Formats: sequence, C-alpha cells, structure tokens
Amino acid sequence: MHAIETNGLSKAFHGIYAVQDLNLHVPEGSIYGFIGENGSGKSTTEKLICGLLVPKAGEIRLYGKHYTDAGVRRSIGALIENPACFPNSTVYQNMMMQALNLDVKHPKAEVGRVLKLVSMAGASGRKFKECSLGMKQRLGVAQALLGRPRLLILDEPINGLDADGMRIVRETLTDLAKDEGVTVLVSSHILGELSKIATHYGIIRNGALIREMPASAMGDECRDFVFVKTGDNDRATAALRIKYREVEGKDGGVRVYDEEESENVAAYLYENGVAVKEIAFNKIGLEEYYIRVMSKREGK
Ligand SMILES: Nc1ncnc2c1ncn2[C@@H]1O[C@H](COP(=O)(O)OP(=O)(O)OP(=O)(O)O)[C@@H](O)[C@H]1O
Ligand SMILES: [Mg+2]
Repeated sequence: MHAIETNGLSKAFHGIYAVQDLNLHVPEGSIYGFIGENGSGKSTTEKLICGLLVPKAGEIRLYGKHYTDAGVRRSIGALIENPACFPNSTVYQNMMMQALNLDVKHPKAEVGRVLKLVSMAGASGRKFKECSLGMKQRLGVAQALLGRPRLLILDEPINGLDADGMRIVRETLTDLAKDEGVTVLVSSHILGELSKIATHYGIIRNGALIREMPASAMGDECRDFVFVKTGDNDRATAALRIKYREVEGKDGGVRVYDEEESENVAAYLYENGVAVKEIAFNKIGLEEYYIRVMSKREGK
C-alpha cells in the first residue's frame, strides 16, 4: 500500500497551475526525496496533502483512505516552509502549545522526548525569536514529530542546518523509517545530503512529476566510473575500447564505466604507451543526475 497516492492532483493560483495532473506514489516506510527547482510546486503539493490547500482537481489517498479521513489526518506530522511559533515564547512553551493543539498524550513527556531527539533539550528556555535559523528549523522538525506520526511531511527540513544539525535530522529520519516504519516525504535542495537517506525520488518540474523511482533504480543511471585525463584522449579512448565495453570521451578526458580500479586503467594505458595526466574514481551523485534529467527535458 502507498502511504501517499495522488491522482491527477491539480492546484491553480489566479488561473495559473502550480501543480498539474500530479500522480505521486509514496510507498509505506519509504523516505521519499521530493526534488524540484524553486517554484516547481513542492510546497503546494505538500500543503495539498496536509489539507492546508484545497485542490482544484484530483484525488489524494493516504494509506488507502481519502485524505480528509479524521483517523488518517491525525497520523500526519508536518513542517512546511517555516514553523509557526510565537516569537516571545520559549522553545518549550511553543512546543507545549503545539502538543496541546494536537491533543497528544502526556504532552510534557512527549515534548521532552522530541526535543531530545533533535538535540534541542538544552535550548528549551530560549525565546523563539532568539533562536538561530538552525535551531528554529530543528524546533520545526521536533513539532512535526510530536505524537509519533506515521507519516512525516518535511519541506526543506535541513535548510540552514550545520553539518551536525544535518546529521541529527538525517539519523532521526532514518531511524524512524527503519525502526518504526514511519514514511517520510522530504523536499530538499541539498541533494548530496538527501541522497544519503532517500529510498525513493520524485522529480517535479513546473507542477508536473517528470520522474519517480526507487533510489536503487537510480544506481543504474548514476554510475561509478574511472575518469582519466591523458596526453592523447582519442588514442586513450581507442585503446581502452579494446579492453573495456563502456568507454566514453567526456569533459576533456575519458570515462571507463566497467572498471572499478583506477590502477588497472592506468597500468593498461601505460602498457599501451599513453601517458596518464590525471586519474580518479568518480561517482555520479544525485546532483549531477538531477541536472542531467532537467537538461534532457529542456532538450539541451
Ligand atoms: N498562495 C499563493 N498564491 C499565488 N501563487 C502561489 C501561492 N503559493 C504558491 N504559488 C505559486 O505556485 C508555484 C509553486 O510554488 P511552490 O511554493 O509550491 O514551489 P516550491 O517548489 O515549493 O518552491 P521553493 O523551492 O522555492 O520552495 C509558484 O509559481 C508560486 O509562485
Ligand atoms: Mg517550497
């Protein structure tokens, strides 16, 4: 079953579509990385799923139920854009207000638990307006975690976080998905970081989903390769093609996809009298993959 499934989901503002005919499939227990440029419709989609906006057309199902189902609504925790907090109230007070709003059981204990999860327990007494950007962001994540939701919707949760903050959020989300079967829909511009946790991806462009796939399938396209720069790349390419099946001249050098050891390529070129200037093992990350998918769409 899918934790989130949308069918033909559309939303327009002043006659212009922000989301159009969107068919999203977020598997239960997945960490679904939702990627797209500024203004592509990520936040709008997330708001629609959370019931903060009314769709113009289409259907949203959460765990097989209509998204307005009261039971299913209670199982969602969300952070979309900025956390809604009172600036003059402390972190703890803001958390308590949200816990009481959500009617969570044992609010004090629950607030303590989630603040600890995001390493914010030490900042409980700080006024919200005096929190750093990263602290505010972590407070927002903590609010989304209140009441142990089955489905988490997090819009740019690692924006503004330092390396330690990112690690904390990353580990929290991975543990929740693995240990408690929580499903996470997470949008982020920090693709390198997202690729460390995402099990699935959806790429949105101009309000339409242009690709959706498990992270494992991306492995076929985001392939590792040995990259070598030589004194004569044409000669190197020709020589390498005798030994290897997948050789490509690119970026002022040659890529060999069916080899994992740079030393083997270097030794082979040396035997064939081609001087190696530079050699390295490379991985095409999510960032490069994303740029490629986008530029293919643009017909570049
Ligand atoms: N309340 C609104 N009124 C009018 N237009 C809106 C409103 N909210 C969003 N839009 C428009 O809808 C489109 C999608 O916006 P959305 O916020 O969903 O993008 P996004 O993918 O979240 O972008 P970002 O990466 O910048 O957060 C944009 O063109 C935006 O200007
Ligand atoms: Mg947004």
